[in-house]
Amino acid sequence: MSLSRRKFLIRSVQCIVACGILPGLSACDGPGRLQESKGRGYDDLVSRIGRERADIIWYASFAPSSHNVQPWTVTIKSPDKWIIGSAEDRWLNEIDPKNREMLLSIGAFIENMVTAARAYGFQVKTRVLARNPFDPELLSLELQNDERAEYPLQRMIERRTMRTGFKNEDIDPEDFSFLVGGEEGFSYFPPLSTQAAWLDEATIAATSQQVERENVQEELARWIRWSDADARKFRNGLTPEAMDITGLAGWYVRNFYGSDDVLAKDFRKATVERVKKQVAESAGWIIVTAEKSGLTALIETGRRFERMFLRAKDRSIGIHPMSQILEEKNFAEKAAAMLMLEKQPQLLLRVGYMRDYPSPVSLRMPLDDFTRVSIFPSMSVRTE
Ligand SMILES: Cc1cc2nc3c(=O)[nH]c(=O)nc-3n(C[C@H](O)[C@H](O)[C@H](O)COP(=O)(O)O)c2cc1C
Repeated sequence: MSLSRRKFLIRSVQCIVACGILPGLSACDGPGRLQESKGRGYDDLVSRIGRERADIIWYASFAPSSHNVQPWTVTIKSPDKWIIGSAEDRWLNEIDPKNREMLLSIGAFIENMVTAARAYGFQVKTRVLARNPFDPELLSLELQNDERAEYPLQRMIERRTMRTGFKNEDIDPEDFSFLVGGEEGFSYFPPLSTQAAWLDEATIAATSQQVERENVQEELARWIRWSDADARKFRNGLTPEAMDITGLAGWYVRNFYGSDDVLAKDFRKATVERVKKQVAESAGWIIVTAEKSGLTALIETGRRFERMFLRAKDRSIGIHPMSQILEEKNFAEKAAAMLMLEKQPQLLLRVGYMRDYPSPVSLRMPLDDFTRVSIFPSMSVRTE
């Protein structure tokens, strides 16, 4: 094939990727999210701490996290004493230099863990250990036997970030109440509100600014798993389908894209175009605010956010965290004032009713990759 013809073909497919054409062709998209077994390390963990405790950690791992880095670590000091920490090589120093988003993700992880533990008949005592967000050990957890609390654990596996397919309807006040479950610190801005208009425009502007930051793009490139082989190897980060690049375009990028493409002008432009399309179809925004912004407050905010996120599918509501405004200092500084909020916004969520509610696609690391068991004398643990 002549060079110019090849170039033309590559350009055409890049255009397809950029324009998001062919949304319907999504069959055969990358490795599935759920593995046949519960992943490497599960059986070993069961033999050390029992099936119920191993399951609690497995459920927790379905929590959301920025770039799907899954920053958590679990050190099992004894069957009932666990230390939750974060792994430095899974921090996002460029978009999240203060580890603010990391703490929110850890909060979501803890919420899944505590909720799953209650469902298995354990009460969990949590204690914050860290003094700053860069300490490797963040919290200690202690499990104590208790009554089982009914909870549909399937919600954790079915929860997912939505990026396309939103309807333009306002969220019904009754559904909003269901989502937030009577908790404070959530504000809803319907699509025609001035706040939603600002969020839409500022998200596009913040994205345009962000894609020009070389270090940010390089960091993103490290977390995109273009090929199926990489997706299978790491089981974290963003796959093409998680970014809604599916069908023929998905096939193309899975086979021909690499880290360098994230730094190319076309990819940066496509990112801004995709964000423009996303904000155009939203039903509005939910902002999660917090009274304080210290370490404990951020973990608690992450827990509150996850409690809401887990209820969303019951009402066919899609949630799309869009953090660009809070990641770009000049936008973050004016966010509270522009939104007329007294408290600091910590999560900006594009929300709306979904046309469909497809199954989750983002991958999860096997337990082996984030759980360590300290040596302790074998003891009898309750099974089933
Ligand atoms: C604190 C936080 C910030 C996030 N920011 C963004 C964002 O700016 N854009 C985006 O598309 N997704 C964002 N997400 C969603 C993650 O990308 C998503 O949780 C991750 O890829 C795993 O996918 P899942 O939620 O479907 O399991 C964010 C998630 C968290 C917890």
